[in-house]
Amino acid sequence: MAACPIDNKSIRPIIYAAGKCRMIDQRRLPTEEVWLEYDNYTEVAEAIRSMVVRGAPAIGVAAAFGAWFGARDIASESSAEFMRQFEEVCAHLAATRPTAVNLFWALERMKTFARANLDRSVMELKIGLEYEALAIAEEDERLNRTLGKNGARLIADGARVLTHCNAGALATGGYGTALGVLRAAVEAGKKISVVADETRPFMQGARLTAWELQKDNIPVTLICDNMAGYLMSKGEIDSVIVGADRIAANGDVANKIGTYTLAVLAKEHKIPFYVAAPLSTIDMSLGDGSLIPIEERDEQEVTHVGGVQLAPTGVAVRNPAFDVTPARLISAIITEAKVVEGDFSQGLAALFAG
Ligand code: MRU
Repeated sequence: MAACPIDNKSIRPIIYAAGKCRMIDQRRLPTEEVWLEYDNYTEVAEAIRSMVVRGAPAIGVAAAFGAWFGARDIASESSAEFMRQFEEVCAHLAATRPTAVNLFWALERMKTFARANLDRSVMELKIGLEYEALAIAEEDERLNRTLGKNGARLIADGARVLTHCNAGALATGGYGTALGVLRAAVEAGKKISVVADETRPFMQGARLTAWELQKDNIPVTLICDNMAGYLMSKGEIDSVIVGADRIAANGDVANKIGTYTLAVLAKEHKIPFYVAAPLSTIDMSLGDGSLIPIEERDEQEVTHVGGVQLAPTGVAVRNPAFDVTPARLISAIITEAKVVEGDFSQGLAALFAG
């Protein structure tokens, strides 16, 4: 993989080498650190669907490698036939999870590369697609580091920062978005502490954010989701920072279920509410958040915890995996290009102008 300016201790959820990628099984963290090996696109698609790998940018990186595996295994020597089969590979990967736009962004980037190079031999196309997947992975980590530096100025020395779900290294190519901002604040010498929501039902906060922050020696306190309002009312939270799965053109943000509730609470308590995400998470084709498709997941994630049934058999269940936070509740959107504040429609449009 192309060189990254990182130390060897950095957590990365996907490691590519010699035509295979290894992914840490995020369903089993933090009690087991199990790496699974992938070298074909149908298995990568299943890894995304079943949440071996999760988090918007990480899903994009995994999909890019999946697309490359699919491309590599296409037998035809005709570019037109190659492209037809490659579109099918990408469609299969795209059908895994609907909300995080990074999945579609990464696949579109792979297809755009292929279409632009159809005059080359299929062999050359394949080599180019491998490089494109590697570039997507490497850029994501690098951009997160820039994003982190941009956002760190918003985090005061001594701040107690609440976060939700996992928008860390595990959710990205490396370093993280929301946790990237917190890492950058620590690297800038600020003494901060983090409050992590457990994030029912999949427990990304309890299992993944707490694990990542502990590994980095960043002080972290775990709470159940329904404790956030109490802590805010007691003056124990100075700011909230979350990642995003898709940001609409007007600044509405789809993120892990429970994010909207936190944003309403933060507004009530006059606590700044920040969203950190790379440009690849911004979907300028959608005018507002009502157009973002929201994934509904298996009922069993709600009725069971750790495989143990808690709810009565047959009870009606809802399990939307994401919600939409209206732009009016958001203080700033932190990207690798700049921190957007104020009128998000204008600010986001300016990022993509020209
Ligand atoms: O269902 P998940 O775990 O894929 O959801 C992840 C989130 O909602 C993250 O907050 C979001 O993807 C930002 S990750 C940098």
